[in-house]
Amino acid sequence: MNTSNYPVDMAVEPEVKAFFDPATNTISYVVKDPASDACAIVDSVMDIDYAAGRITYDSADEIIGYVIANGLRVEWLIETHVHADHLSGAPYIQQKLGGKIGIGEKITVVQETFGKVFNEGTEFQRDGSQFDRLFVDGDTYQIGEMTAFAMYTPGHTPACMVHVMGNASFVGDTLFMPDGGSARADFPGGDAATLYESIQKVLALPSDMRLFMCHDYGPNGRDIQWETTVGAEKDHNIHVGAGKTKEEFVKFRTERDAQLDMPKLIIPSLQVNMRAGKLPPADETGKTFLKVPVNGL
Ligand SMILES: [Fe+2]
Repeated sequence: MNTSNYPVDMAVEPEVKAFFDPATNTISYVVKDPASDACAIVDSVMDIDYAAGRITYDSADEIIGYVIANGLRVEWLIETHVHADHLSGAPYIQQKLGGKIGIGEKITVVQETFGKVFNEGTEFQRDGSQFDRLFVDGDTYQIGEMTAFAMYTPGHTPACMVHVMGNASFVGDTLFMPDGGSARADFPGGDAATLYESIQKVLALPSDMRLFMCHDYGPNGRDIQWETTVGAEKDHNIHVGAGKTKEEFVKFRTERDAQLDMPKLIIPSLQVNMRAGKLPPADETGKTFLKVPVNGL
């Protein structure tokens, strides 16, 4: 039963192909409209060797190869949020295959926050104009003949959205697999109580809705997994399932987050992802640099 007010259509069953990036434990997806050759790419990755300052495109090239081999047409490059643990490959893929890059409209809040952290000049626009589309809660868009929609799900970050395409939902970092629980809520603009409310919106989707994670870390030594259902999360999620209350969640999440280190790639990730995955502009010598704010995070 769909207890949400969103335009859910479980009869539409897209083909979902997952790509796991072991360097960042990120899962990217190609989602194909069952009625045409149109597809969307969700949360793609650009590779970085941060110690060497070297950027490469093996992960994105793998997705590009798959799209070409299957004769697909890319209509959307969806970012569920501004990731702090990997760099987006969306502009690189867009350059090769086309498609529009979309993210939640609250990206402007993230840009405001981190524009200050990285002391960006006025050339860094804080209006989301680096993206082709800014989604608000309930916005729909077409992937071929399939109608997808975005659900506003803040808490992990202020710009997080879950994207629902037929019977498949891409949850970003609102939820992990049932035995992984949930993502941290202590980044600037994050909030554990807000995350709990957002997770309730996801859990109000139909029980057999397929949920696809953005990350998995194989807790307790199990193999990496990325797909579950609303029903399984409701019954078994170790942080929010089986009737856990908001108070229990907020207490647990807050205590846990206080012990977590910063993600290894947060500094390059934010600088690139707040620009829709583009590198900062080159300096007058034509070289490109990323900054490290000292005691700034
Ligand atoms: Fe994230």
